[in-house]
Amino acid sequence: MSSRLLRSLFYCALLSLPWAVTGVEQHIFDAPPPQSPGILRRFSPKNSKSLAEVLSIAQAHDLDIWQIGTDSTPHVDIYSPPSSTRLPDVLLSTPHSLSNISVPTLRLQRELKGDWGLESLENSTFHAEYHTHEEVSAFVHALARAHPDKVALRHIGHSGEGREMLGMKISAPPKLEGPSAQKLGFVVLGPQHAREWIATSTALYLAHALLANASEPHSLSYLLEVYDFHIIPSPNPDGYVYTWEGDRFWYKNRQIVGPGAKCTGIDMNRNWGAHWKPHAKHPLLHFEDDDDVSSENDTDSGLKKKKKSKKEPADPCSHWYPGHRAFEAPEVTNLANYLTAVQGVGKGAKGGVVAFVELRSYGQMLAAPYSYKCDRLPKDAEDQREALHGAARAGSAMYGTSFATGSLCELLYRAPGNLLDYVYSTAGVKYAYSAFLRDTGTYGFALPPAWIRPVGEETAGVVAYLGRFVAKQRGIEL
Ligand SMILES: *[C@@H]1O[C@H](CO)[C@@H](O)[C@H](O)[C@H]1NC(C)=O
Ligand SMILES: *[C@@H]1O[C@H](CO)[C@@H](O)[C@H](O)[C@H]1NC(C)=O
Ligand SMILES: *[C@@H]1O[C@H](CO)[C@@H](O)[C@H](O)[C@H]1NC(C)=O
Ligand SMILES: *[C@@H]1O[C@H](CO)[C@@H](O)[C@H](O)[C@H]1NC(C)=O
Repeated sequence: MSSRLLRSLFYCALLSLPWAVTGVEQHIFDAPPPQSPGILRRFSPKNSKSLAEVLSIAQAHDLDIWQIGTDSTPHVDIYSPPSSTRLPDVLLSTPHSLSNISVPTLRLQRELKGDWGLESLENSTFHAEYHTHEEVSAFVHALARAHPDKVALRHIGHSGEGREMLGMKISAPPKLEGPSAQKLGFVVLGPQHAREWIATSTALYLAHALLANASEPHSLSYLLEVYDFHIIPSPNPDGYVYTWEGDRFWYKNRQIVGPGAKCTGIDMNRNWGAHWKPHAKHPLLHFEDDDDVSSENDTDSGLKKKKKSKKEPADPCSHWYPGHRAFEAPEVTNLANYLTAVQGVGKGAKGGVVAFVELRSYGQMLAAPYSYKCDRLPKDAEDQREALHGAARAGSAMYGTSFATGSLCELLYRAPGNLLDYVYSTAGVKYAYSAFLRDTGTYGFALPPAWIRPVGEETAGVVAYLGRFVAKQRGIEL
């Protein structure tokens, strides 16, 4: 290879690296031209059989399923991007409601602004819009520079494409000396599914609220008297970048799952080593095919074992592709290692992580374990639910936003390999929840940026309630 060719290859590589951009940082995105809206359709069949039918047609046509609800109001939300072909007639003739979803036109040039007025939570401009991966990272670093006594940056590990997974430990020096000064751990995780932008924004809002002066409205700084917070705003950075540069509604990570694989990415929230299963079909589509033989007390588990041989191999093109094995996604392994490290020696008793909230969207639901099974209650269910009901009231106090509560399995559907089950059962965090933020399906994942702040404020209410509840269990009034 000639040296000239080598040199030009080198410059090409250099130009494609984010840190090669100097001065006022600018990023050029290949954004699609302005376009007509996409359409979100909600099908609300009467029973789970018709729900499964809609779902099965949607899967057969490789449609983008945004949400499935199996609780009191069963529904399937199906999104059609502007350029997509007509839906199958059988779906068009099934009654449904419509919303127009305007896909934001990504700015062709976006300056990395550093001046968000972060010294004030209420006056900062940061929470008025969604942010790129670079901006999220700049915000985290800016908070760390502004509050060196309270923020420690945490390097959780690298994503499949080599991006840094950034976390913050937010803490305040103890007021008291001695053993009672031992802080409890509270983990807040952003979305594993890339398109849930509001959840990333809310994680950042919460970090800001914890650091805001106590005299400011919505400050959560008082929680730091009892807790060390660990906030990981963007646990799927590759997917997140892809939602800005490729497909706004991308879901999985961006892992190459094998040589010659047709499709990219693993559903991180099915890749945890908690009742992990290799199949990728939606659970509603194989009711009769229940293969959960892991619970030794199921009297009929012997019968169910026989059906195992029927399992289809997982399809990497499925939305719900769980990987070839648990913890195959490096992001999932990194998060699990981080949780183990912060759980530390104190596990359960003193110190250690006592509360965990995973932020997601959409649907306005607060969910407790389990995800893998609907008919099995955790031994801590009563305490978990009591905290959850209070948290739902706290979440609606400000803007009247209602939150449904229940187990993840009841509210959505049975899903194995889930983060929440891992955090509760393996990491031993008693108060572990998934919080599905606004809305209930009008905008879905395309929630307008004007909602970032109110969602941040009401979610701060949820987190504060949980913080006070768990502290009170330990005899501490906050
Ligand atoms: C959705 O957009 C189309 C045009 O793109 C318009 O004709 C229709 O009225 C809109 N529907 C709603 C409910 O806004
Ligand atoms: C926010 O702006 C208002 C109006 O200018 C001002 O009164 C208030 O002090 C500001 N808050 C902070 C924390 O700077
Ligand atoms: C918080 O605000 C109060 C009242 O405005 C002020 O006196 C105090 O210095 C501020 N504290 C910090 C740490 O900025
Ligand atoms: C199974 O049943 C036995 C006896 O009732 C009980 O001790 C054990 O904890 C149960 N195991 C599980 C996983 O529930």
